[in-house]
Amino acid sequence: MERVWWKECVVYQIYPRSFRDSNGDGIGDLNGITEKLDYLKELGVDVIWLSPVYQSPNDDNGYDISDYQAIMKEFGTMEDFDHLLDEMHRRGLRLVMDLVVNHTSDEHPWFLESRSSRDNPYRDYYIWRPARDGKAPNNWGSCFSGSAWEYDRTTDMYYLHLFSRKQPDLNWENPAVRRDVFAMMDWWLDKGVDGFRMDVISLISKDPAFPDGTPGINGYASFNETANGPRVHEYLQEMRREVLDGHDTLTVGECSGVTLEEARKYARSDGRELNMVFQFEHMDVDADGSNKWTDRRFDLRDLKAILTKWQKGLDTVAWNSLFWENHDQPRSVSRFGDDGPYREASAKMLATCLHFMQGTPYIYQGEELGMTNAPFRDISDFRDLDSINAYHELTGQGVFTKEEMLCRLRKKSRDNARTPFQWSDDANAGFTTGNPWIMINPNYREINAREQLAREDSVFHYYQKLIRLRKSLPVMVYGSYDLLLPEDPDLYVYTRTLDEEALLVICNFSSKPRAFSLPEGWRPGEMEPVIGNYPDPSADLRPYEAIVYRKSNGESLCL
Ligand code: GLC
Ligand code: CA
Repeated sequence: MERVWWKECVVYQIYPRSFRDSNGDGIGDLNGITEKLDYLKELGVDVIWLSPVYQSPNDDNGYDISDYQAIMKEFGTMEDFDHLLDEMHRRGLRLVMDLVVNHTSDEHPWFLESRSSRDNPYRDYYIWRPARDGKAPNNWGSCFSGSAWEYDRTTDMYYLHLFSRKQPDLNWENPAVRRDVFAMMDWWLDKGVDGFRMDVISLISKDPAFPDGTPGINGYASFNETANGPRVHEYLQEMRREVLDGHDTLTVGECSGVTLEEARKYARSDGRELNMVFQFEHMDVDADGSNKWTDRRFDLRDLKAILTKWQKGLDTVAWNSLFWENHDQPRSVSRFGDDGPYREASAKMLATCLHFMQGTPYIYQGEELGMTNAPFRDISDFRDLDSINAYHELTGQGVFTKEEMLCRLRKKSRDNARTPFQWSDDANAGFTTGNPWIMINPNYREINAREQLAREDSVFHYYQKLIRLRKSLPVMVYGSYDLLLPEDPDLYVYTRTLDEEALLVICNFSSKPRAFSLPEGWRPGEMEPVIGNYPDPSADLRPYEAIVYRKSNGESLCL
């Protein structure tokens, strides 16, 4: 397997709105990020992925872009951006930008032109269709509730928006769209950015027949059904040739609806498309089909089956991205671990389980502190349009009562990941001196960076150690993965092997102690612990215990 830096690095995702507010307006900003680079350096990450910082009316917090070459006013100026990039590079940190080109904002000049008349030169930059029987052209639903088609009176046609109506989909069939997108990417690469995380890139090519899909709980077909369209690989190969070739970048595609077969093409190791993809099957482990609004807990056996399928399925032919969290998901410690008495143990256990798999690990801001879901009281506490729209749609249709829906939002809302980063136990968690744009999780008094930096056994220091280990253990990066005990409902146990090197990773996903006997080939005396979340090794496993052993080969590990 080819050895390259983007397989060996650890990426940290920043959601700028909620990271650090430098000027007291309650909204995180670029200068706030620059202030905190030393914190990230201390954690040890190599790459920062910035969620969108471009000019945007903020219908979807920056994922609706009205100018790709300007900075959102609330986040600062282009000078602030250049300064941030310089300060990052000075510290040896690389910057990956969010590339949102499945759609623009409806306030983007291209769309203003496009909607103005049927024969405007920009008309074909977007996807326009006539009504079908006086209604929307097909039954596709927007990811954020309702139909994916919006009627536009000016020209008496519908435009497609797989996300909000303020996020019209670009028409990638049009070569001029591709040319303009590629030119914009070039412009950022010339500035010196080090790569792109490509937003819903699996959706850019649509089936030109626009066939109806299977309706979900709200009556519309899920946007995921339109994924991996007929020309998507052609477009990405063109992007590779036209823009990326000749630049040393990290590229990761957010691939909603991706299958293993498709991922092998997107992230193929011959490097003709992307370096790696985000797949979402493990994020659907607690969903019901296309309905994510459930309140049930996952079954560990399902989670192991999914992750193992991806570990085995991409080994040597493509490359995985590893994540439990991002700005669209609830907090992992609340979802897969325990956010009560075993919060710290389970946060470290989850980190162990993920960081020892094959792939590039992504840490979402606050995950390294074990930040939790937030105690939202009622619908007025939410800011995310996905949550708010789903609440109104599903309670309006009688699918759920208001109380049922609130309970589901508390479990699954994207806002759980968007409450401000907890820097300290000062007022407003040290995030802002003003009024935060979204509620701060009241547990910042116990859970915050200052406290964890000062305490040797904190979640923060555990992450630091995991990141450091990755630099000294090639087997952690390149080793092949094998699952043990697939049917065990509580334990996630796997090995990694590379030539003579071997690791045994043992994670207890339950709050109960568990007896454990070493698998064949592993003998006490011939192995040493590499990392664990309890101070003293013991034969049996304690609640949420994680421990990793390495077969000793005579050499000792220098950390
Ligand atoms: C991606 C982003 C999400 C956004 C959507 C539309 O899924 O991660 O935050 O709402 O695309 O751009
Ligand atoms: Ca600010």
